[in-house]
Amino acid sequence: MKEIKNVEYGLEKIFEGAQDFLPLLGTDYVEFYVGNAKQSAHYYKTAFGFQSYAYAGLETGLKDRVSYVLKQDKIRLILTTALVSDSPIGEHVKKHGDGVKVIALWVEDARKSWEETTKRGAKSFMEPMVEKDEHGETVRAGIYTYGETVHMFVERKNYKGAFLPGFVEWKSDYNPSPVGLKFIDHMVGNVGWNQMNETVKWYEDVMGFVNFLSFDDKQITTEYSALMSKVMSNGNGRIKFPINEPAEGKKKSQIEEYIDFYEGAGVQHLALATDDIIATVSELKARGIDFLPPPPQAYYDDIPNRLGVHMKMMKEDIKELQKLSILVDADEEGYLLQIFTKPVEDRPTLFYEIIQRMGAKGFGAGNFKALFESIEREQAKRGTL
Ligand code: FE2
Repeated sequence: MKEIKNVEYGLEKIFEGAQDFLPLLGTDYVEFYVGNAKQSAHYYKTAFGFQSYAYAGLETGLKDRVSYVLKQDKIRLILTTALVSDSPIGEHVKKHGDGVKVIALWVEDARKSWEETTKRGAKSFMEPMVEKDEHGETVRAGIYTYGETVHMFVERKNYKGAFLPGFVEWKSDYNPSPVGLKFIDHMVGNVGWNQMNETVKWYEDVMGFVNFLSFDDKQITTEYSALMSKVMSNGNGRIKFPINEPAEGKKKSQIEEYIDFYEGAGVQHLALATDDIIATVSELKARGIDFLPPPPQAYYDDIPNRLGVHMKMMKEDIKELQKLSILVDADEEGYLLQIFTKPVEDRPTLFYEIIQRMGAKGFGAGNFKALFESIEREQAKRGTL
């Protein structure tokens, strides 16, 4: 396998697999189907610092749905809600609650992306569709991945507008400041029992991804519960999808809790990158975001041991990290700082990770135990452990 460089995303060694049939330029947007997009948009603006960006709804000629697009640096979220009862959007929300429907991927050629993936076995969600307005045209096409989640291919090389045809600029008088979130580092999918290897194979065969990291249930286990995880990446390393499956433990795996409440496979968390996690997390806390409680004192006492040679390059004060309950992990190439929110809706399903990479390319494996014990304490409160 050939190694390629990707400086912008801090990845120097991502393996080039058989992705030539599906070159991906990056994440284009993530679309959520929600019960009340207007109120969700207010939450993402107020609490997470997203900016009003684009809008489509009754005023733009839509009859059955409304979509708000929010932006922070490179991250674009769409919040979509149904306006009528007879709607696949409403059906999705009825079954799953608020959740991620579409992970959209920016491509050079959406028709070819759809043809190559459906030819390899992907189930179509939407055949290639050209959309036009005065700023040019886009082509979009979609395929199903795990559960009812969709990958949409977005081709925008002939489009000069801000977002997509059909959307107008969303101007608002209410503009809370951003909190320093830069781009989506990775997006994690939870799948049901015995579905991980099938899903991994699907990403290899259909999308040309490679499995570049794996964690088995011996590595991701606490006294009570366990899970397994495999990280899939496209060739340039810009798109990383870890896939989780529950594993047998004394009590219920957090992945199984997710599957029960989401009623199927779906997106578990979005990891959003910042280059100043202390500032970002301080701001998010001040704006009412709930994070998982901190691990015990022993975890912070042990940080110099765990970081080893990377300790001397660490700029952050451990006491300050502890005060904010930020976790620290290291690999051969550096360290990373991360923290996880509690679920952002009433069903214990989707949550967010805030991550700052200081050279490390892993996913915080050294934190799994501390993190999962923290999640289990929350599960116990919900009576679902
Ligand atoms: Fe993560």
